[in-house]
Amino acid sequence: MGKLVWVVVSICVLMVFALALGLGLGLGLQSDEPDVDQDYFLSVRDEERIDCYPDDEGKSIEACEGRGCFWKEPVEDLAPECFHPPTHGYDLVSIPEDTELGWSASLELRERPERYQRDVINLKLDVEMQTTNRMRFKFSDADNDRFEVPIPVASSSSKASNPAYNVQYGTDPTFGLKITRTSTGTVVFDSRLPGFTFDDQFLQISTRFPTANIYGFGEHIHERYRHDLNWKTWGIFSRDTLPLEDRNLYGHHPFYLCVEKDGNAHGLFLLNSNAMDVTLLPGQILTYRVIGGVLDFYLFMGPSPENVVQQYLELIGRPVMPPYWALGFHLSKWDYGNLTVMRDVVESMRANDMPHDVQYADIDYMDEQRSFTVDPINYVGLGEFIDDVHAHGQRFIIILDHTIAKMETYEPYTRGHELDVFIKYNSDTNEELIGRMWPPGDNVFPDYMHESGINWWTEQCHQFHNTSLDFDALWVDMNEPSNMIDGSVNGCGEDRWNRPPYLPKLYKVFSGTLYEETLCMDSDHHGSTHYNVHSLYGHSHAKATHRALEKIFPDKRSFVLTRSNFPSTSRYAGHWLGDNKSQWVHMRWSVIGMIEFGLFGFPFIGADICGFIDDTTEEMCQRWMQLGAFYPFARNHNARDAIPQHPTVFSETMTNVSRDILLHRYTLIPFLYTLFYEANTQGSTVVRSLMHEFPSNVEALHVEEQFLWGPSLLITPVMKEADVTVRGYFPDVRWYSYYSGEELPEYERGTWVTLSAPLDFIPVHVRGGYILPTQEPANTTVYSRRNPLGLIVALNDEQRAAGNLYWDDGESRDPVDNGAYSLLEFTVNQRRLSMSVIRDSYVPPDNLAFSLIKVFGLDSAPSSIEVDSVTLSADSYTFDADLKVLIIEDQTLAMLEDHIISWNN
Ligand code: NOJ
Repeated sequence: MGKLVWVVVSICVLMVFALALGLGLGLGLQSDEPDVDQDYFLSVRDEERIDCYPDDEGKSIEACEGRGCFWKEPVEDLAPECFHPPTHGYDLVSIPEDTELGWSASLELRERPERYQRDVINLKLDVEMQTTNRMRFKFSDADNDRFEVPIPVASSSSKASNPAYNVQYGTDPTFGLKITRTSTGTVVFDSRLPGFTFDDQFLQISTRFPTANIYGFGEHIHERYRHDLNWKTWGIFSRDTLPLEDRNLYGHHPFYLCVEKDGNAHGLFLLNSNAMDVTLLPGQILTYRVIGGVLDFYLFMGPSPENVVQQYLELIGRPVMPPYWALGFHLSKWDYGNLTVMRDVVESMRANDMPHDVQYADIDYMDEQRSFTVDPINYVGLGEFIDDVHAHGQRFIIILDHTIAKMETYEPYTRGHELDVFIKYNSDTNEELIGRMWPPGDNVFPDYMHESGINWWTEQCHQFHNTSLDFDALWVDMNEPSNMIDGSVNGCGEDRWNRPPYLPKLYKVFSGTLYEETLCMDSDHHGSTHYNVHSLYGHSHAKATHRALEKIFPDKRSFVLTRSNFPSTSRYAGHWLGDNKSQWVHMRWSVIGMIEFGLFGFPFIGADICGFIDDTTEEMCQRWMQLGAFYPFARNHNARDAIPQHPTVFSETMTNVSRDILLHRYTLIPFLYTLFYEANTQGSTVVRSLMHEFPSNVEALHVEEQFLWGPSLLITPVMKEADVTVRGYFPDVRWYSYYSGEELPEYERGTWVTLSAPLDFIPVHVRGGYILPTQEPANTTVYSRRNPLGLIVALNDEQRAAGNLYWDDGESRDPVDNGAYSLLEFTVNQRRLSMSVIRDSYVPPDNLAFSLIKVFGLDSAPSSIEVDSVTLSADSYTFDADLKVLIIEDQTLAMLEDHIISWNN
């Protein structure tokens, strides 16, 4: 191995190559020394073995050796017996060539026993140094075009001049890429590992990562936020199934974030929509096995976790700005039974003064569950009811499913058929694929990727809005795409798409097919095979729905809620975490899911509050209302057969507690909305973990039962039955109770703290150094937006703090692009709070003004306070010397004017 030579290609490939030869070092192109494999066989540790028989079926010593692999019983239970020798891979065949953005290299398959018979012999590797912190490396077939994901991603016009990464390659014994962080030398990607494979339907690559701090990959239930490296395999492929166990779920996210040992972070995105699985090895190795497309990787160098996400979203697109009202409380249930029950629920919410911005109608409003129809018996009068909802400042959202009943008397079908928008059995026939959806019956599947499909969908949504229901936004469901039978009513052909040679470890493929409860993999989407675009179905559905809403509301922002999703779907839609259960553990999982979706760039995220399936209990629902009040997307939704769980159906205490916490949410919506503005303009996360803000703190790296809004509001929910205390970790900075301003004692900073949390209380803390804008709450955002504003100023150890407020009219389209917004900045320094107007292009109609200013953590009692140079009378403020909290009330500080508040001691 002494012959291993690394060539720094990031500077100048040709020069270094020549130099290396000149020095007589050689590049290891001919590295087939007889003992390389044998040495490896004797020395490789169990936890580093790259599985050569992941497909299990037919595994035997002979079959393993038939693949040219080693067989040895491992000491560690879970390590594979059959593993690749180091000479399995590709060779570099010529000197890499400089390109505009980096370099490219030609690779050739090292001779080895055939595995799946369609090996790609010649590969092309393109390395692009796109920006200082983003690089791309892509392995593709040098001779033939292959499927590539058709979503737009950013590129670059010139090579980064001072990249944060250093790209090298090795060729001994086979080709591998090694990428290090320039500033620290940490190796962030290293594919010098055995088993690199590029078969037509089996692409495998392994990489080493520098620490065990790996987060991401989705969509799954992860019982741990930081990944378990004990040979854990996760399937990635959109699927409609219950969010349990290790199942691959609705979304497809081949993205992870890794925190290095010094707290720097990087991220890796594989732009590939084919079914795949990823295995995490205890030796800090990750193996991707993908069954199509190309290996198109993007690496983001951070260095902070937040930078990583921002860089990821700079590539794939940043999330859409939701309307202000969408940050209010949403209420839903599948099968209210009829309009009377739905109306009673809404009226009970009103009668109890419960904050409630959005009411939903699930599929039971439809006539026999067909999209674009209304049940003429049970939901007669729904249109008038929606008018009433609007008259109360509330909004109404309806569900639409992805399929269309195949009925000659059903206009959405006949029109779609006429426009040829439905997916076909395969590319050779013109026959529409028929599957099953509710109502049990023949259904066809619109092709939302195709322009004619998008236009037809837009037309249907528009027409339905104009003629039937005045909905405000759309919820699109079942779009994995779900099918109630496997493949189609005719089954599926026995071809290489339906029966690929390798089946990734996906949930529930009992019969060894990819098409269980979805479409045949060889079905045809106007030229694309379902096999390749399956995981893009929900993405296209959400995008088409976004387009439809643009047509329906040309001037107003609406929003799309989608179940299936793909990287960049958040440009068009929010997501909820699917069909959870009314179980305590699902609350816990929802926190992990929500912070993971933050990493994937989906800030508008939440789980069904109180649980979807099964009956909740009052205690669980109360705790869940407290937690859900801090989901960015806060919706209580309930399944067909479960007992009602809207917050007013339980005891008076429960109603009061729910109202109370929702009013706190509404108080904080100006802050939440500002975080969404930052997500929309900078790709920032809204909900984040403590790891995200404190990556150098080893304790913070595994906190998964608490979460932050932005950098500064820490929520520590109770998620266990009968508990009246909760343990939370508090990194070593100042933390204050959001409710009272009481500071966490200094000796508890940087420790796990047991907090008191009686049933009517959820601990929420504000981080010192930050200023949060607030507003007096109301029962809908229409009314809360007119109320006086406030600030919570939480001082840090240096008696400083900063924050901002974004404000627009809450619902007009593209406020940032159109410049129709205002922006305020707040800073505290030297006992002076400056409230500065950075931009005043949106003037609120109600003379909005700041009235209430709370300052937490003053080091001493103020002797006098001045507001805009006028000394305040002693009765307009209070200072609590025990809590060190200053409260200034009843001010009228015009929102769009600068102000200074100062205090002396
Ligand atoms: C499945 C969705 O996940 C759920 O939220 C919805 O209530 C049902 N479909 C019925 O539409």
